[in-house]
Amino acid sequence: MSGDSPQAWRHPGYLAVIDLVAARAGLLPPSCPAAAMEGIDRAMARAGQSDFPTYLAQLEADPALLDDLLVELTIGETYFFRNPEHFQFVRHQVLPDLRRLRGPTHRVRAWSAGCASGEEPYSLAVLLMEEGYGQRMEVRATDVSRAALSRAQVARYGDWSLRGPEAGRMRPFLHLEGKRYTLDAQVRERVHFGYLNLADDTWPSPAHGIWGMDVIFCRNVLIYFNRATIEAVARRLHASLADGGFLIAGPSDPSLGAYAPFETILTDWGIVYHRPAPGEAHRTTFHSFPSVPRPRRVHRRCRLPRRRPWPSRPPPPSPRRRRPLPPRS
Ligand SMILES: C[S@@+](CC[C@H](N)C(=O)[O-])C[C@H]1O[C@@H](n2cnc3c(N)ncnc32)[C@H](O)[C@@H]1O
Repeated sequence: MSGDSPQAWRHPGYLAVIDLVAARAGLLPPSCPAAAMEGIDRAMARAGQSDFPTYLAQLEADPALLDDLLVELTIGETYFFRNPEHFQFVRHQVLPDLRRLRGPTHRVRAWSAGCASGEEPYSLAVLLMEEGYGQRMEVRATDVSRAALSRAQVARYGDWSLRGPEAGRMRPFLHLEGKRYTLDAQVRERVHFGYLNLADDTWPSPAHGIWGMDVIFCRNVLIYFNRATIEAVARRLHASLADGGFLIAGPSDPSLGAYAPFETILTDWGIVYHRPAPGEAHRTTFHSFPSVPRPRRVHRRCRLPRRRPWPSRPPPPSPRRRRPLPPRS
C-alpha cells in the first residue's frame, strides 16, 4: 500500500479501505490522509456503517458503494474552456485534419472521459457549434461519479465554473436564474452522459457508445491512477480512437506515449496523442500552437479554493476572426 506513515491514519481500517480502492479502481494512495479519512467517514456514514470490516465486505460486494467512495477520493474540479489551448488545437488541427480525412459531411465523435460536472463536454459542444458542426457531432461524456453526472445533466452553473479566460464563449448559451446560470437546451441536448469507471475493462464498447472517437479529452483523471491502471487505460484510450483521432490529456497527467502506439505531437504547452490513419506518416512533430493565459493554479488537495466572480472583462473576439495559425510543416 501507500508509503504514507501509518501514524498519519487514525485507524488501520482506513488503510484497508485505501488498499481495496487501489486494487479495485487503480487509484493511487491519497496524498492527504486527513482529507481521505474525512471522505471515507462520509462514505461510511452514507452506507450506514461505522465498522471497518463490515464496510469492507460491503465494498467488495456492492459496486455502487465503491463508486460512492471513489467520489470522496477524487476531486471533480473543472470549469468551462479549461486550458483554452486544447480547444484551439481541436479547432486548428483536429477539425481540419478530419475534414481532409473524412470529408465535409463527417459527423464528429468526441468524448470527455472523466467529465465531472459537465463543463468540459459542454465546452466541446460549443466549440463544435462555433465551427459549424451543430448538426454533425456526437459528444459523449462519462464519469465514475453519479452525483457529478446528475449535476452535469441539470446543467446549472455558478461563477466558479466560469472563471477561465475563455468562459465568455459560454455566455450566449447561459441564462441567469437567481444566482446561477442554466445552460441552454441547444447545448445540453448535444451531450450524452453516462457512467463509466475508466479502470474497468469494459470499454471500448458500442454499449457505452465508446468507440471510433475522433477526439478524446481525458484530462486531470489519470493523475489519480497507479501505474498499472495508467498503462491499461492508455491502451484502451488508443483502442477507442478512430484512425486519425486525437487524445488530449491534462498538463499534469502522466505521459502515455510508452504504453500504446500513439504518435506524440509536441506543442509548446504539452503533448497530444494521435492515432495515425493507415498510410499517414508516423512522426513526432512540434507545432507551436499559441498558449493562452491560464487562471492561477489552485491546489485543492487539502483545502477549498476561494470563489471568484464572473470574469469582468469582455469575451474574447470570435475565433473565426483570429489570425490563422501557420500551416503544419
Ligand atoms: C479533476 S476532474 C476533471 C474534470 C475534467 N476532465 C477537467 O479536466 O476539467 C476528475 C474527474 O475524474 C473522475 N474520475 C476519477 N476516477 C475515475 C475513474 N476511475 N473513472 C472515471 N472517472 C473518474 C472524477 O469523478 C472527477 O469527476
